Amino acid sequence: MKVLIFPTKAEAIEKAGDLITEKIRSNPTCTLGLATGGTMEPLYARLRAKGESLDCSRVTTFNLDEYVGIGPSHPQSYHAYMRLQLFDHLNFDPSNTHIPIGDAPDLEQEADRYERAVQDSGGIDLQLLGIGANGHIGFNEPCSSLGSRTRLKTLTSATRDANARFFKDHEVVPRYAITMGIKTILDAKEVVVLATGSKKAKACREMIEGAVSSYWPASALQLHPKVTALLDEEAAADLELREYLETVHPAGRDVKVV
Ligand code: GLP
Repeated sequence: MKVLIFPTKAEAIEKAGDLITEKIRSNPTCTLGLATGGTMEPLYARLRAKGESLDCSRVTTFNLDEYVGIGPSHPQSYHAYMRLQLFDHLNFDPSNTHIPIGDAPDLEQEADRYERAVQDSGGIDLQLLGIGANGHIGFNEPCSSLGSRTRLKTLTSATRDANARFFKDHEVVPRYAITMGIKTILDAKEVVVLATGSKKAKACREMIEGAVSSYWPASALQLHPKVTALLDEEAAADLELREYLETVHPAGRDVKVV
């Protein structure tokens, strides 16, 4: 895993923006895996600011996950999030942007359909990931199978608490989600993880230095050959090998050594 530690959150986000922009410019028909959450908001703001200079008309996207029980027009759905944060501002073709349907009549069928759609697209070229404080990626909560595919997951109370800030009242925070599985994520050709803030420090330590374990789902990324983790100082605070990691990739500069 290539770990880049930046002095500030803004610099980590700038690097994530550069990696996505470079991917789209070098391969205008690429397939991106996209993430939601508070961490991604400043990143999507950077991409929005590129306006017409970033041609997304032939880009295909697959989001990681969606809450169960709320449909695409619900203001707290990830469909609404993506429209607001990104899709409505750049020239994405709506027929090429994909997010699971959280109020599908048959949710298991929807999860299987989504998994097939990812595979039929030819696979994800670059998967963007955030990380939960409990180490989840997508909504693959602790103890998710490392071999999992897109499916229904029950959210932990920690995740429901963390995401309650996006809802009017804790009671209405969804209890279930449809999420790409860990294996679905590991199938991406390349992964970029963005983690900022002290709440992510423990999860980042487990992702980078911990044992590969379903208890910390992000640790499964150690099995992937091409992962770049972009951390700010706060998210990197618990790394025991921090000094070494900073020597290998000083101040986030790209050095061609692994
Ligand atoms: C959410 C999403 C994840 C996201 C994570 C972190 O619930 N399902 O894809 O990476 O939790 O969210 P945040 O950036 O708001 O901390």
